[in-house]
Parts: sequence; C-alpha cells; structure tokens
Amino acid sequence: MGDVKKVADLIKEKGYVVAFTGAGISADSGIPTFRGSQGLWEKYDPMEYAHIRAFNSNPEKVWMMLREMSQVILDASPSPAHYALSELEKKGFLKAVITQNVDGLHYVAGNTKVIEYHGNHRWLVCLSCSKRVPLTRDIITVLPYPRCEKCNNVLKPDVVFFGEGIPMLEMIRANEEANKCNVLFVIGTSGVVYPAAEIPYIVKSRGAAIVEINTTPTPFTSSITDYYFEGTASDILPKILEHL
Ligand code: APR
Ligand code: ZN
Repeated sequence: MGDVKKVADLIKEKGYVVAFTGAGISADSGIPTFRGSQGLWEKYDPMEYAHIRAFNSNPEKVWMMLREMSQVILDASPSPAHYALSELEKKGFLKAVITQNVDGLHYVAGNTKVIEYHGNHRWLVCLSCSKRVPLTRDIITVLPYPRCEKCNNVLKPDVVFFGEGIPMLEMIRANEEANKCNVLFVIGTSGVVYPAAEIPYIVKSRGAAIVEINTTPTPFTSSITDYYFEGTASDILPKILEHL
C-alpha cells in the first residue's frame, strides 16, 4: 500500500508531475466505467456501438448509446479527485493531465492543460463538412440522430472510436509530457487500450516515478508502479493534497 506522506515528499522533491487518467476518476461523478461489472461495455458491445464502422453503417443505432452517454456527461460534475488535480495544478506541481476520458470534467474542475487523448464528447463534428457544434440537451433529442445544420449530414461526437486514429496533435503533446515528467500519476485506468496505455511505460523507461491509484490492480501495478494506492481516486488524492 502506498504511503501518502512519501508521495507528497516525492512531489515536492521532484516537481514536474503529470497525471494520466481513465474512466475510474469519473466513476465518482456518476459516469460508468467501460470495463468491470457495471461497465458500459457490459451493456453495449463496443464493436457494435463504439467502432467507427458501426457508426458509419448504422448511426441511428449507435446514437442510442451516444444519447445515453451524452445525458450522463451533461448531468455529471467533477469528483473530489478532479478537484484535487485542479488544486495540484494551482499549487504549481501538476503540469498537465493526459486523459483518456471524453467527459471534459478536468476542464470543468479547473485544470488548464488537459490533453484529451480520445477527444471530447461535449463537441459534435460533421464528418462531411467538419463543422463543430457544442453538445446540448436539445441537439441530442433530434431523431434519428443529430444532423449538421450546414450540410444536413449526421453529426458524431468529437471522440476517437475504435478503428480511428488518435488526434496527431494530442499524441505529440502527450509524448512530450511523458518525456518531461518526473512523476506520473496513473489514475483509474485498466491500462488495456493502446496506444494510450503506452504512456506509463514511456515514463517508466526514463526512470521517472509511477504513482498508481486504482480500486483493483492493473497490468501496470506489478510491472512498473512504484507507489500503489488501492482505493478510489476521490478518497486517495485529497489525502495526498493534505501534505502539500
Ligand atoms: N477510483 C479509481 N479507480 C477506479 C474507480 C475509482 N472510484 N472506479 C473504477 N476504477 C478503476 C477500475 O478498476 C479500472 O481499472 O478504473 C478503471 C476503469 O477502466 P476502464 O473502464 O477500462 O476505463 P479506461 O481504462 O479509461 O478505458 C480506456 O477504453 O473503451 C475505451 O476509449 C475508452 O478511454 C477509454 C479506454
Ligand atoms: Zn456538415
């Protein structure tokens, strides 16, 4: 079990901290994680609902899942863990958040440097004319799916579906941070989706420290994690902040 005081001392000593976050940090905001017993992928087969081929061939069906996800995201507010990371930036230790999440909650909590590796569900984009519009409660009521007001084509959340590439700029920015940080917090991610899951390994290969917070062990825990905290992010992160 990790020692909060030791990690706080590590942060003070080493400085340049980056956080790598996954769905677990938003679990306490009421947003379902993807894997695990209550995971979204237990309810919706990702190959049928989260693959770009599925979206292109049956947007009406995929928008049934997207409508549910949109509602949850619009209703969600940051967890104590999101606020703790915002506090860590304000204190000058946290230099960037690299998030796999698409809920935008790191920005809502006040973090300013957020690398959205899988995009952001709070924006919809037209696949024909690239027009971007904000996600609103009204637009998600449009049936069978939201359409572009310019060219009337189907709108897609500005997120990375399976079968799509990572936005190049986000990939480059994330690798830059992975190559600069002295401490990487790995928070609430199962570490099974690539290329995102490469990031902690890049950091470790440079000899930087890995601090992991998760309710269950992951592939990182027994291989590259230096300090492991078994518990919820909303419980652990504020405890570390108390020592800073
Ligand atoms: N605090 C910390 N960790 C938690 C909490 C919590 N309150 N609740 C759950 N967890 C952990 C789970 O143990 C699990 O390891 O969060 C992790 C969530 O894993 P996933 O659901 O696989 O989410 P993530 O790792 O972010 O998925 C990566 O997969 O489906 C794609 O694009 C999607 O960005 C997503 C990517
Ligand atoms: Zn359009």
